[in-house]
Amino acid sequence: MKFQAIKGVRDILPPESALWNRVEQTAREVFGTFGFAEIRLPIFEQSELFARSVGQETDIVSKEMYSFQDRDESSISLRPEATASVVRAYIEHGMQTLPGNVKLYYVGPMFRRERPQKGRYRQFYQIGAEVLGPSDAPGIDAEVIEMLLAFFERLKLKGAVLSINSIGDKNCRPAYVELLRAELQKVREQLGADSQRRIDTNPLRVLDSKLEHEQVIIEKLPRIADHLCAECRVHYDEVKRHLALRGIAYQENWRLVRGLDYYMRTTFEITAPGLGSQNAVCGGGRYDGLVELLGGQATTKGIGFAIGTDRLMLSLQESPAGEVGGGLDVYLAWFGAAAQPVAIKLARRLRDAGFVVELPAVEMKFGKSLGLADRLKARHAVILGNDELAAGVVAVKRLPGKNPASEDAGYKGVQGLSFGDARSNVVIPTRSAFQDRRGTLSGFALWSRGPEGFLAALGMTMVRSLAN
Ligand code: HAM
Repeated sequence: MKFQAIKGVRDILPPESALWNRVEQTAREVFGTFGFAEIRLPIFEQSELFARSVGQETDIVSKEMYSFQDRDESSISLRPEATASVVRAYIEHGMQTLPGNVKLYYVGPMFRRERPQKGRYRQFYQIGAEVLGPSDAPGIDAEVIEMLLAFFERLKLKGAVLSINSIGDKNCRPAYVELLRAELQKVREQLGADSQRRIDTNPLRVLDSKLEHEQVIIEKLPRIADHLCAECRVHYDEVKRHLALRGIAYQENWRLVRGLDYYMRTTFEITAPGLGSQNAVCGGGRYDGLVELLGGQATTKGIGFAIGTDRLMLSLQESPAGEVGGGLDVYLAWFGAAAQPVAIKLARRLRDAGFVVELPAVEMKFGKSLGLADRLKARHAVILGNDELAAGVVAVKRLPGKNPASEDAGYKGVQGLSFGDARSNVVIPTRSAFQDRRGTLSGFALWSRGPEGFLAALGMTMVRSLAN
């Protein structure tokens, strides 16, 4: 029997996994500078938590949750999203006593039994952030969005478009929903089955419809912007002013209602190119009543977002920003039993200094060994055979490496360096010594420029040029 991953679920393999790590690491760094800290949440919760917060009638809860009965008969669900869990944890751990706003982020898999297609999976990943606390100041909404865009900018994601809306609060939305329902009743017969059902369960969701023939009908429906109460209107205007203060461009989209029940006031979404119909790379909004709904303090407000990491990755891979760096720095080719112990020690010194080193476990013929170095896309082959051993040098051969275009691929020089000091206590500068504050290896180019840089990094001197 041949096993395969379950439909809608997939493996993330190298080298793509390196890009995932880079993206998640960047999120940690950027969010950290905004004062957010990571919360690690369980993958499963009581089903009731999601039914209450996301909403019993939503597609997510009514059709897409992976729910099962535990051995004690309680109903458990794999989390379809994480905002509910963050709020549950906030209440459970009494975080309302912490000073200021509590700013948390999370990274991990979510589960929804949707129809799989490009950018839509049954196990997918999110990077999300939430702010919980006593304040609902519009500046918080704007700062959360600023952080999100700063993250995308750091990743060099191109073509992201921010859409915003306000969907009112418990004072003004119910009247608008009733008005919408009444208007929808008048055109019921012209709508598809899903929208007809939503007139009864959740009329706002009709605005989400992508059905072609419904578009002209929806365009004529009353718009929430014309029905916001004074407080919501002021809040929304202030959010826009605070976005402008940050130089953030946005589009207003009155149909942006989002598919989860807990939202109120600000909602937002970001679309990115290269994703086809599943082009929302991030969604979020304010959910001021949720803490109270789940048994916490009524005065606690909340806002947050979640990025679909799978989609972000697809969009990044469309652009040069998605190229993965890293790869093999040194292939350490050794020949002869006497060279092996020296090679083992040299490999360890290079690895301790942060270089990525491949050390063949068994001796290979010269051509085969260097052929493997090429196929592994090593940037340098360090060659250590009997001649080198006798002369007290190793040869360094510059290889085309992983990113030939960005490096000096024309350099074919083979030169020797003394490894005498490899046995002494010369300190090798660590790879991180070449990293700037953002962790990019800018100064590291020194080393990748050629054998001279490599020698300098090792604190070694070149003794002779072998050949060209
Ligand atoms: P959501 O809009 O349901 O919001 O999901 C956020 C993002 O997750 C989407 O924009 C999309 O990129 C990604 N996503 C959703 N479903 C899938 C799927 N089946 N496959 C791939 N990616 C998917 C939430 O989850 C809210 N908890 C966001 C939030 C946090 N609101 C406030 N705080």
